Amino acid sequence: MLKLIMNGLELAYERRGQGTSLILIHGYPLDHSIWQPLVPLLENRFDLIMPDLRGFGQSLVGGSSTHLSDMAGDLITLMDHLQIQKALVAGHSMGGYVSLALARQHVSRLLGLGLIATQANADPPEKRIARNQLADRVEMNGVGEVADSMPALLTKVPHVQESLKDLILLQSSRGVAGALRAMAERPDSMDELSTLEVPVVIIHGLADGIMPVDRAREMRSAVKNGSLIEIEGVGHMPMIEAPQAVAEALEAFH
Ligand code: MLT
Repeated sequence: MLKLIMNGLELAYERRGQGTSLILIHGYPLDHSIWQPLVPLLENRFDLIMPDLRGFGQSLVGGSSTHLSDMAGDLITLMDHLQIQKALVAGHSMGGYVSLALARQHVSRLLGLGLIATQANADPPEKRIARNQLADRVEMNGVGEVADSMPALLTKVPHVQESLKDLILLQSSRGVAGALRAMAERPDSMDELSTLEVPVVIIHGLADGIMPVDRAREMRSAVKNGSLIEIEGVGHMPMIEAPQAVAEALEAFH
């Protein structure tokens, strides 16, 4: 993997292919490797940039607390470093929250937005409390509880569950707890979404066990220039469960 080391930031990323720059932002509690099934399908058309968000994979946690806006800021630092003025940005789940934070603060750097298995809503109060409580337990006991409980929610495909469990066990408890707290405090982004001028592609599995498809339909209704691709029989991990359909949907940007 490549690494950007600058002002205390240590951000690992993979870069493949040629064409318009497309930054693929992974979800929680995973890393850039979830995008691998898309690489052979998209590398002929796009300059694919796949970072590990701060605290995940090979990227350092960063400061004492994490905010989604810090994660978005890291990606702008990466774009500056790579001398990319504007890029397409597609985020999965928590990565979608990061791409919406990026749209809020750095809209001039966006060519288009991909929102995969995600939502623009903030958490209701009870969900915020539950996330902060889980963050406390992860800080105390490690990521085992998350690795045991989450794969079955992410997908119904047994071998994908196994590999996601292995991937979660590789993540640091500080990174996972920081991301839980960051997600708990995220604002509602429906207003940002409704004012965006760039094209928005929304992709959602109809069997998503974490995020109901209604969230995607609400986002589709809010955007000016967008499309929604709903994928039958697919859970929360469309890029692994149905890479061809996801690649075709993202090619619409081209
Ligand atoms: C994710 O897949 O990134 C998370 O499950 C999103 C969330 O918990 O809201």
